Amino acid sequence: MSKSDQTSKPKPVILTCAQPTGQLTLGNYLGAVRNWSDMLDDYECFFGIVDLHAITVPPKPSDLRQNVYSCIAQYIACGLDPKKCHQFVQSHVIGHTELAWILTCMTPIGELQRMTQFKDKAAKLGFKVAEEKGSDDVKFTHEGVRAQASINAGLLCYPVLMAADILLYNAELVPVGEDQRQHLELCRDLAGRFNQKYSETFKIPEPYVPKTGARIMSLSDPMHKMSKSDKNEKATIFVLDKPEQIKKKIGSAVTDSEAEIKANSTKPGVSNLLTIHSSLSGESINDLESHFLGKGYGELKAEVIELLTENLRPVRESYHELIKDKNYLDSVLKEGAQAAQKRAYKILSKVSRKIGLTERARN
Ligand code: AMP
Ligand code: TRP
Repeated sequence: MSKSDQTSKPKPVILTCAQPTGQLTLGNYLGAVRNWSDMLDDYECFFGIVDLHAITVPPKPSDLRQNVYSCIAQYIACGLDPKKCHQFVQSHVIGHTELAWILTCMTPIGELQRMTQFKDKAAKLGFKVAEEKGSDDVKFTHEGVRAQASINAGLLCYPVLMAADILLYNAELVPVGEDQRQHLELCRDLAGRFNQKYSETFKIPEPYVPKTGARIMSLSDPMHKMSKSDKNEKATIFVLDKPEQIKKKIGSAVTDSEAEIKANSTKPGVSNLLTIHSSLSGESINDLESHFLGKGYGELKAEVIELLTENLRPVRESYHELIKDKNYLDSVLKEGAQAAQKRAYKILSKVSRKIGLTERARN
C-alpha cells in the first residue's frame, strides 16, 4: 500500500480496557498482551486503564493511584509501544460517564441484574439472587433483599459504563476474555437499540479474538485457568516475578505420577508446562514431545524455568526503569488522553444532539 493510501483510508479502531489491579500474569502476557502488540500496525488501537470501573469495589486511594502507573508501565514493558497506540486513563477523558448515564437511561434494571459477573460479585457480598427455572425474571431472597442495601449501584451499572467505553470511540473490534463476552453482548444490544430509536449512530462492536493466544493454566490446579486472583501463591507466575520466584513456582508445579512428557487431556499439568515452553521457545508441541522423549519432568521444568527467566527478564528490567520515570509515563497518558478525547468528543456531541440535549453556547 502506498503512503497516500494509508493516510486516506482510516484504520479500523480496536479498543480494549483493563482495570488497574495488581500485576499482569503469565496468562495475561501469553494469552493477550503479547498478541495485542502484533495488531498495532494494522489498527488504530486505544488501550484504556479503567480507574472508574475499579472504584466499584473501592480500593485505597493511594493504591489506586499507584496501580494506574504500575499498570501502564507493565503494558509498555510487555511490548505495547506508546508510539503506535493510544494509552489513556478512563477518568482523564470526558465522555465515559456522560455516555454511561445516557445509556443507563436506556437499560432495564432486569438486564443488569441478570449479568453473571454482577451475580457473582453480589453473591460474594451476601446478596442472593434466586432465579426461577424457565423464567428470565430475577427474584431476590429475603436475605438478599436485606443485603441489597449494602451493594452499591456502581456494581450493577458496571456493564453500562463498559458499553460507554466502547461506544464512545465507535470501536469496531474489542479484544475481551471469555468472562466479558456477556458484557460485550449488552453493549451490542444497547448500540442497536440506540440506532433504532435515534437513527444510525454507533457501529456494532465485534469481539476480537487475536491469533493463537495460549490458554495458560494454574500451576497448582491445571484444570483451571491461571488467574491473578488465585489465593494460592504458587499457582500464578506474574510478569514481574524474580528468577527465584519463577524457579520455586515451576519447581512445585503439579504434574502427575507417570514419567512421560506428552500433551493430552489426562496430563493437564505436563500439558500446561509444554504450552508455556512452546509459547516462549516457538517450538511446536510435537517437536517438544520428541525432544523430551526418555527425559524426566525435572528436565522439562528446568527448561521452562530457563525460558521464563530469560523472557521475563527484559520485561521486569524495563518495568523497573519505567516506573521510576513518572514524567515519561505522564507524557504517554497525556498523548493518549488527547487522542482519545478528540474522538470521544465527536461521538458524544453526536449522541447529545440526537437525544435532544441543547448545545452549550461557545464563547
Ligand atoms: P483478565 O486478567 O481476566 O482481566 O484478562 C485480561 C486478558 O488476559 C483477557 O484477554 C484474557 O482472555 C487474558 N487471560 C487472562 N488469563 C489468561 C490465561 N490464564 N490464559 C490465557 N489468557 C488469559
Ligand atoms: N470489564 C472489563 C474487565 O473487567 C474491563 C473493561 C472495562 C473493558 N471497559 C472495557 C474491556 C471496554 C474491554 C472494553 O476485564
